[in-house]
Amino acid sequence: PPDVVPQAPEDPLFGLMAAYRADPFDKKVDLGIGAYRDNDAKPWVLPVVKKILRNDPALNHEYLPISGLESFTSAAAKLILGADSPALLEKRAHSIQTISGTGAVHLGALFLKRFYPGQPSVYFSSPTWANHNQIFSNIGIPIQTYPYFSKATKGLDFDGMKQAIAAAPDRSIILLHACAHNPTGVDPTQDQWRELAALLKQKSHFPFFDCAYQGFASGDLARDAWAIRYFVSQGFELCIAQSFAKNFGLYGERAGAFHFVTGPSPDAAKTISRIGSQLQQLQRSEISNPPAYGARIASLILNDATLFAEWEANLREMSGRIISMRQALRARLEELGTPGTWNHITDQIGMFSFTGLSETQVRELRDVAHVYMTKNGRISMAGLNTHNLEYFARAVDRVVRG
Ligand code: LMR
Repeated sequence: PPDVVPQAPEDPLFGLMAAYRADPFDKKVDLGIGAYRDNDAKPWVLPVVKKILRNDPALNHEYLPISGLESFTSAAAKLILGADSPALLEKRAHSIQTISGTGAVHLGALFLKRFYPGQPSVYFSSPTWANHNQIFSNIGIPIQTYPYFSKATKGLDFDGMKQAIAAAPDRSIILLHACAHNPTGVDPTQDQWRELAALLKQKSHFPFFDCAYQGFASGDLARDAWAIRYFVSQGFELCIAQSFAKNFGLYGERAGAFHFVTGPSPDAAKTISRIGSQLQQLQRSEISNPPAYGARIASLILNDATLFAEWEANLREMSGRIISMRQALRARLEELGTPGTWNHITDQIGMFSFTGLSETQVRELRDVAHVYMTKNGRISMAGLNTHNLEYFARAVDRVVRG
């Protein structure tokens, strides 16, 4: 019958991207999707990636193994866990290549749905990346939330977060953004992470880390992985979804990894081998084997000290430009005397700022000034540049004054 399949709503983020592209206005500003842009609002192929593209003698188009390119997954594990991680030294981590971060979250959710005892709920920060909801609900894991963003301080609602995590049934799945929280740009401090780890341990919760922005929060890869490494050092069983879309600028190549770390025990090697076998079986039925191109590029860079250093410099260029845009936007809004406080623009970190603009103000910015941002008031800082910052600041000033 014609009415069996209802019309699905358009994806808010990709819909926004399409609307921006269709807008003929010459001063339009794209602050929507979390993808890095250079100072001319253009996508940026990292110079170190360009170099690889020119001289990759090994390029062919064969299938990868089901778990992906081994040189990539092992380097990805070292990058996130640290080369001296007890989980790697004691061989109690399993890494599998995925369709970027989304595929990693999906594979992790699928695995937990099948094997995690007691069918627990997953707890998300409020707010979180919109796709978390869709992925876990498609798989049928019940979703709950914990408070995260304080509207009053435009920072972390740490007490609210702790209370909800403490009140969750024991052995719940707690989804945590490893760094550069999307959409708020607000991360716990290291002391707060320590408190969270103690709380999760006391409750026997299972931490599920999503790490899409390593290198974008502090500009330092190890520092951005600190929370994950700390949890591993505390003996947790946990998993990690890792994306290389943003930090390698390989958005469309879908390079990512899923890592499962089991806790220290005499049987850990056997346990992780069984877990790995199940992950591979799930992967085979879902995607057969992952895409090769992006993983090959990342692998060549991750496994070569000179290229790695160049990559770190490229990363610093991206995060540095974002930080300078944060400073310039805050300074301009303060100079204009725009009502409200704007320190959160520079306090928040990573790709995004959660501006505090209301849905009506966001709508008005789009209607009047052709500025495209998500309706929750998030802006992708990388969409700002020295050419459009003044235009954007004045537009914000106008809508805030009403
Ligand atoms: C974003 O939040 O803008 C990015 O993570 C892109 C996406 O896939 O949603």
